[in-house]
Amino acid sequence: MCLIYVFGALIVITNGVYSQGMTTLPSKQNAVRDLFVAVGSPVKILCTEGKEIRVEWRLNSSVLYSNPILYIQNTSLKDQGIYTCHQQNGDLIQTLSLHLGYPPSPPDVYCWSPSYPKRAICSWTLNPDPILPTHYITTYRTYSDPLSSAQQCQKWEEQDSQCVLEELKMFEIEPTLINITAINALGSATRIWPFLFEDIVKPDPPVNVTVMVMPGRKLSVQWGPPPTWLDPVNFPLKYKVKFYWGKPETARTLGPYESNKMVLSGLVAGRTYYIQISAKDFLDGGQSSSWSGPISATIPVN
Ligand SMILES: *[C@@H]1O[C@H](CO)[C@@H](O)[C@H](O)[C@H]1NC(C)=O
Ligand SMILES: *[C@@H]1O[C@H](CO)[C@@H](O)[C@H](O)[C@H]1NC(C)=O
Ligand SMILES: *[C@@H]1O[C@H](CO)[C@@H](O)[C@H](O)[C@H]1NC(C)=O
Ligand SMILES: *[C@@H]1O[C@H](CO)[C@@H](O)[C@H](O)[C@H]1NC(C)=O
Repeated sequence: MCLIYVFGALIVITNGVYSQGMTTLPSKQNAVRDLFVAVGSPVKILCTEGKEIRVEWRLNSSVLYSNPILYIQNTSLKDQGIYTCHQQNGDLIQTLSLHLGYPPSPPDVYCWSPSYPKRAICSWTLNPDPILPTHYITTYRTYSDPLSSAQQCQKWEEQDSQCVLEELKMFEIEPTLINITAINALGSATRIWPFLFEDIVKPDPPVNVTVMVMPGRKLSVQWGPPPTWLDPVNFPLKYKVKFYWGKPETARTLGPYESNKMVLSGLVAGRTYYIQISAKDFLDGGQSSSWSGPISATIPVN
């Protein structure tokens, strides 16, 4: 347990609870002080130091109680709000904004490369959600080169929990290490995630899937490579075709195909078929893409 004085208020902190900016004294008494506390921890704040005057605490402007000590034994999210302490004549003594949440846990990281070998993307989540504002320091470096300085993993598509790795070397023997460090007012946590570039190749799904009914109860299926796959010439893709009627669990998968079209035959008149395509690196690196959205076509009865 530690005791900290904040502009005349005594704040008692237990269970490793931290609070931002507690060591600096505000210049104005009516400045709002942000207090960050872990859910479940106690909070104890003295309104005035020493002086035996009658005061009252208010929460969101409603009177809480007439007591110089604000004490919450087991904080929960519903205790969040603006706490103000007033003299009996209503004069404001201090204002406190109580924020509850959790220190970050090590991020769960997932990286994939939809644009091999140009770039890879990493995405992460925190469990539980820390609720409090949390920011990230994201760096990566190649394990085999400990002297090389870590590179920044830049924010990707304006997402706070996604970053992009560029200029990764192909066919490295040692893994690249990405370091995602989550930081908020209650603490920080780091996850180091090692990966080999070739193992995380995962194209986006193929696009522009079209299905045409052909004579003889056949369907002609065509598609285009995922536009995020930047170089289909030097890094070709192969495709699988999934089709079903009725329940999706009954689907059959055909392929792989190296071209962007195929013909489904032996189909049954009157049935509506659903067709989906997935792409994979031609050399079998990494994973298959997700399936494209189903496109349907009905075989005419006559
Ligand atoms: C604090 O409150 C939570 C939720 O109401 C409860 O589950 C927990 O047991 C309480 N902890 C203590 C130490 O009272
Ligand atoms: C106080 O106000 C905050 C912010 O508007 C709100 O989130 C919180 O639920 C309120 N607390 C109470 C106890 O009314
Ligand atoms: C991960 O990044 C954090 C924040 O930059 C840094 O403090 C930590 O030392 C790094 N850890 C490793 C193992 O590189
Ligand atoms: C998909 O269709 C759009 C619009 O018709 C076209 O601009 C685009 O080039 C096509 N992409 C591929 C990979 O075929």
